[in-house]
Amino acid sequence: MHISTELRKRWAEANRVLVLTGAGVSAESGVPTFRGGGNTTVWKGMRFDVISSAEMIERDLPAVWEWFDYRRGFMADIKPNAAHEEIARWQDRFAEFTLVTQNIDGLHQKAGSRDVIELHGNIWRARCTVCRFFHNDSSDGKRPCACLECGNHLRPDVVLFGEMLPAGAFEFAAERASRCELCFVIGTSGLVYPAAGIPEIARGAGAYVCEVNPELTPLSDICDEVITGKAGEVLPLFSR
Ligand code: APR
Repeated sequence: MHISTELRKRWAEANRVLVLTGAGVSAESGVPTFRGGGNTTVWKGMRFDVISSAEMIERDLPAVWEWFDYRRGFMADIKPNAAHEEIARWQDRFAEFTLVTQNIDGLHQKAGSRDVIELHGNIWRARCTVCRFFHNDSSDGKRPCACLECGNHLRPDVVLFGEMLPAGAFEFAAERASRCELCFVIGTSGLVYPAAGIPEIARGAGAYVCEVNPELTPLSDICDEVITGKAGEVLPLFSR
């Protein structure tokens, strides 16, 4: 694992930095990544992309909640790792720092990151299926059984397969990517769009793009630098 002189120089001189993270940044905290498990069934004989789909919200909302409550169950005690903590330190180092995540686990915020752009929502939030009112879970993880505004059903505030990203989230991230000088792609397989398009926008706008991942991904080819290693081991090297 090595950080080049070129990257160290750009790191030292950068004002505008953007970081895109995926499930890999939470792997060392014990959150399973999505791919690599093939099309294995994850819940009561259903594949991940079936139980986590817009169609399932229509067909069987209680089953969707059962699945998300199961995931919340094992995420409740999970702690941020050294990668989350290092990224949280970066927000006060650069004049303009943008953290974009595909993760719904809330671990960046737990590590102290502010203004996190959550492209795929957050597992600790629910929203009304009718009036779209948001409900942040109480500290003990409890959520109201119905919308406090209009009394209709609540659903996880997570982007499911077949659904659009939260309004404005991608546009804001893309705008920041189009003017960043340094872009990090950390722990994502780069297979899911539009999120995977963000480093491409940064590259197209002339930013230096660095990938951190134990494996090569389809995004590796557009990167100026690829550091093959675990995020929790590589990122702390920047502050040393
Ligand atoms: N450090 C860095 N990267 C890691 C680590 C680690 N310790 N462990 C695994 N990885 C890498 C894997 O090599 C893989 O490339 O993290 C990546 C995880 O890829 P995915 O499981 O596909 O996760 P992600 O890219 O975030 O998926 C995108 O797909 O299923 C949807 O909505 C879901 O947000 C998710 C989206």
